[in-house]
Amino acid sequence: MHSLILFASGRGSNCQAIIDYFRGSPLARVALIVCNKADAGVLPIARRENIPSLLLSRAELEHPELPEKLMAYNPGLLVLAGFLLKIPGTLIDAFPNRIINIHPALLPGYGGKGMYGKYVHEAVLAAGDRESGISIHYVNAQYDEGGILLQARCPVQTADTHESLAARIHHLEHFYYPRALEFLLLQRPETAAAAGQ
Ligand code: GRF
Repeated sequence: MHSLILFASGRGSNCQAIIDYFRGSPLARVALIVCNKADAGVLPIARRENIPSLLLSRAELEHPELPEKLMAYNPGLLVLAGFLLKIPGTLIDAFPNRIINIHPALLPGYGGKGMYGKYVHEAVLAAGDRESGISIHYVNAQYDEGGILLQARCPVQTADTHESLAARIHHLEHFYYPRALEFLLLQRPETAAAAGQ
């Protein structure tokens, strides 16, 4: 059984979709939710689902002992779902190729610092693009520049607002993100076994 550690700062609808998808699965379970905002919607989700959560500040995220603390969960993947702090090099080095993010647009377009949430959708609408979508990618030291694992597309309609476009994008995210994680996990031996533990 693989463990997943989810990182989120917001509403947590992707976390909920991942929790629901793996509920009762023999492949994986959500072991921990990491959050940096005390009022984030994802924290009540963690409580309701009986999943431990870790509320941390930017300094705590960057603390050199955090990787070891997370290793105790033996995570198969660290999964970012609307986590707004930059992942420090200490974590990237400790979990090579095991940190995944989802971005609500078709990278390399509309990525980088400050491109999150409604700012992404407003930029897509302002550019007059006829389609948008999602990108699921590995996390490296640069925002939104790690290798892309999966992209899915949806139309942008002329009457769209950033809210209606976000809703369509969320739909794609909730379907594809858990399945992309499952696909990755199926290709990997369980972490502890791989480490010879
Ligand atoms: C998603 O649109 C995701 O692409 C982005 O942040 C948003 C999080 O939404 N990285 P939610 O908190 O999962 O509802």
